[in-house]
Amino acid sequence: MDALLKVRVWRGARDGAFSLYDVPRQESQTVLDVVTHIQRHLEPTLSYRYACRVGMCGSCAMTVNGRPRWTCRTHVAKVADGDTLEIAPLANLPVIKDLATDMSEFFDKWARARGQFQGSATRHEPFATVSPESAERQAANAGIECIGCGVCYASCDVVEWRPEFLGPAALNRAWTLANDVRDVAQRERLRAVAGDVGCHACHTQGSCTERCPKQLQPTVSIAGLKRLAGRAAIRGKL
Ligand code: SF4
Ligand code: SF4
Ligand code: FES
Repeated sequence: MDALLKVRVWRGARDGAFSLYDVPRQESQTVLDVVTHIQRHLEPTLSYRYACRVGMCGSCAMTVNGRPRWTCRTHVAKVADGDTLEIAPLANLPVIKDLATDMSEFFDKWARARGQFQGSATRHEPFATVSPESAERQAANAGIECIGCGVCYASCDVVEWRPEFLGPAALNRAWTLANDVRDVAQRERLRAVAGDVGCHACHTQGSCTERCPKQLQPTVSIAGLKRLAGRAAIRGKL
């Protein structure tokens, strides 16, 4: 292939601007390949982030033609508008430089949603046995493959309008732990996610679920948290 792609790439912080680059088209080229070509051959100061290149680490998400995507698994042929491509940093996060965003707040919210497992057993006790068929384990499994890419967070209107909202990924993580029968911090976690900026702030329109590259369903997880929180409130256990 000797055709050229016209690629607009964001440079600078949030008050930066797009710069235009010509990139040779290749067969099976991914958006991450395009960014890497620009950095290696045209603009060595271009900042961006990636690690695994195979959809495991969650570090390569960017806004591609207006929509957040994991760039290492997104083929140019699927998303290019003719021969043009526009690549920008993820929305709803501070921009460090160019395509690299600051993910601190995104992960701090996981901690605020009590996204850490808290057990009570010691290493001297036998392993807990959890039936893979149990409803709780299946609910946890449905959300467990999150790679922390931030695509859902960048897609969420409520995060945009209300930056304190914990967001879909942190709430999805809380839901997986709410269904972990070994965890002993259930009440504290429910309190953490049931507040004003937690599950009840979600409007359930599902952009997170539509765009999650791992086909997870944060909207379903958040609905589960709403049910748990509602039940606990009625029983005076929040
Ligand atoms: S369904 Fe809820 S969490 Fe998901 S994008 Fe919409 S408001 Fe955000
Ligand atoms: S829920 Fe999906 S979109 Fe959100 S961070 Fe996890 S893998 Fe990415
Ligand atoms: S580089 Fe790891 S998910 Fe894309």
